Amino acid sequence: MNKIDSLEDRFQSRIDKEEKIEARDWMPDGYRKTLIRQISQHGHSEIVGMLPEGNWITRAPSLKRKLALLAKVQDEAGHGLYLYSATETLGISREELLDQLHTGKAKYSSIFNYPTLSWADIGAIGWLVDGAAIMNQVALCRTSYGPYARAMVRICKEESFHQRQGFDILLTMCNGSVEQKEMVQDAVNRWWWPSLMMFGPNDSDSPHSAQSLKWKVKRLSNDELRQRFVDMTIPQAKILGIELPDPLLIYNETRGHYDFGEIDWEEFRQVVGGNGPCNKERMAARIKAHEEGSWIREAAVAYAEKKKNYEKASVA
Ligand SMILES: [Fe+2]
Ligand SMILES: [Fe+2]
Repeated sequence: MNKIDSLEDRFQSRIDKEEKIEARDWMPDGYRKTLIRQISQHGHSEIVGMLPEGNWITRAPSLKRKLALLAKVQDEAGHGLYLYSATETLGISREELLDQLHTGKAKYSSIFNYPTLSWADIGAIGWLVDGAAIMNQVALCRTSYGPYARAMVRICKEESFHQRQGFDILLTMCNGSVEQKEMVQDAVNRWWWPSLMMFGPNDSDSPHSAQSLKWKVKRLSNDELRQRFVDMTIPQAKILGIELPDPLLIYNETRGHYDFGEIDWEEFRQVVGGNGPCNKERMAARIKAHEEGSWIREAAVAYAEKKKNYEKASVA
């Protein structure tokens, strides 16, 4: 057995025993690369995900709704920062991470390339998009990389609040006027399929999944998570009294799960490939915010430098 084999074997046996891998531990290059890609993509999704909802902060229908939405969007910024910090422990800098986002080299969740047309969209995002995110993230609390798993524990607590506030927006509207209920139905019609796409391609078309499951970077496959989400959401749609836009949605007694129709994978490919309704707008907004924030980064560096020099002088 050569040295590399034994290191890899030892690494895999730690993972098999459910031990967490920490930043200074030896890890295979592929594991490091996979994590950098996955955690940064997750962080970018939190940051870009603020944009569609930020669109409604000034137009929220009451002070209570405005406060909750503002708090939610701030939570998402916090999630982005925890995740960027977790990615940095793998040896990549924040500048590099942001550069990958701004040049289109790194992806973020395709769901955030859809527009938010009415207040009901904010409810639908909380209910469906945060709901799908939780399904994925609860499983990631047990991921093998320690800094990622620990970030997920806190993020999940906040995500479940997001889902509940989204559902509460929709329930209030569904108990309101006919027009309000129609707005909810319209929003759910538009957000349902993109939410199912959030779990990624079918397992049969997801070539890296097997390795990620072996390394316990992923704990459940895309199709398993998607099925759990569908099963969880249907009873909630019944409480709202709305229809989900899929005529093939039916409970399958044999499987003990709901069957559902085929996702439009061509639409998924188009949106992931940069041709969704808002891809260009989202990136332009992020780049503008980054450029306009350069003065604060420069000021922070200058302040840190000044403080260091002051401390050095006072020691001498
Ligand atoms: Fe989040
Ligand atoms: Fe969230």
